[in-house]
Amino acid sequence: MNHILQTLAIGIGNQKGGVGKTTMTVQLAYALVEKGRKVLIIDLDVNAGSTKHLGIDPRAYLGTFEVLTGDEEPLAVIVTHEDEGNTLPKNLHLLTGSRKLEELEERLRMKQSKFDDTPLHDVVKPVIQKLRGHYDYIFLDTPPSAPLPIVAAYKAADGFLLVAIPEGLAIQGLQEALHDVEEVRRYGNPQLKLVGLAIGAVDVRTRLSKELIHYVSKEFKDYLLKPTIQRSTIIPTAQTQQKSIFETHPDHPITHCFREMAQDFETKIERFFWGTRGSTLEAENG
Ligand SMILES: Nc1ncnc2c1ncn2[C@@H]1O[C@H](COP(=O)(O)OP(=O)(O)OP(=O)(O)O)[C@@H](O)[C@H]1O
Ligand SMILES: [Mg+2]
Repeated sequence: MNHILQTLAIGIGNQKGGVGKTTMTVQLAYALVEKGRKVLIIDLDVNAGSTKHLGIDPRAYLGTFEVLTGDEEPLAVIVTHEDEGNTLPKNLHLLTGSRKLEELEERLRMKQSKFDDTPLHDVVKPVIQKLRGHYDYIFLDTPPSAPLPIVAAYKAADGFLLVAIPEGLAIQGLQEALHDVEEVRRYGNPQLKLVGLAIGAVDVRTRLSKELIHYVSKEFKDYLLKPTIQRSTIIPTAQTQQKSIFETHPDHPITHCFREMAQDFETKIERFFWGTRGSTLEAENG
C-alpha cells in the first residue's frame, strides 16, 4: 500500500452550521493517526472549531489566515506535538483557525495586484500544493455559511467528505451540499470526488434519525460511511474538555465506531481514488 503515502486533501463539508463537521474532522483524524497515518487539519473557520477542540488557543499561533494571505509559509506555522502546551499525537498536525479569517476576503483584495486576475477562491490550492508529500491526508474543516473559505477548500480538494447529523433540515442540507460540489466540479475542479457521507449524532428512536438513515441508504448507497455514529454525551463532554474522545474515552463503543469508520473511509479511498472504477455519485446512479 505504498500509494497511500500520496497526499489526499479532503474537504469536510456541508455549508450548514452545527452538522458535525468539526467533530467528524477531529475524531476521524485521530482514528486515522492511530492507524499509522499522518494527518493535517486545516481549520478554515473563524470560530476555530477544530483548533479549540484540539485544546489549542487560536490566539497563540499564526495559522490559516497568515498562510492564505501569503504572509507565512504553511510548514513554518503548522502546530505539532513538538510545540508547547498541547496533547496532539505525533502524526496529527494543525493549521489553526482564528477570528482574523473574518477579514480574509478584504485582506486578499487589498494585497491583490491589479495585474493579478487569479480568483480569490483559488487561494487554498497553492497551500495544498506546498504540503503534498508531507501527509497522507489533509482535512479541510470548513466554516458554516462563509462562501470564500468553503469554495476555496472545495476547489483545492481531491475529495469531499459530506457530513450530516439528524437535526433540522438535514436532508435538504445534504442536497444543497451536493449541489455545491457539483458547482465546484463544473467551475474549476472537475477532479473533485465524493469520498463518502458520514452521519453522526444518530438516535434511532427519533423520526428524524430514521428518515435520514432511510434517505441516505437509498440515495447514497455505497457512499454511506459505516457505521453511523450514535448520539452520545461523550462527544460534547470531550469537546468541553478540549480533547478528543480518543483521549477521554479510548475504549468507549463510540470511539470504536470511529475506528471502524476510519477503516471504511480508507476502503472507500482505495476504491474511489486508487481503484479502477469510476467514482462520481452520478456515475454510480447511472
Ligand atoms: N455523535 C454525537 N453525539 C452527540 N453530540 C454530537 C455528536 N456529533 C456531534 N455532536 C454535537 O453536535 C454539535 C455540532 O457539532 P460540530 O461542532 O462538530 O458541528 P459543525 O458542523 O462543525 O458546526 P459549525 O458549522 O458551527 O462549525 C456539537 O455540539 C457536537 O457536540
Ligand atoms: Mg465546525
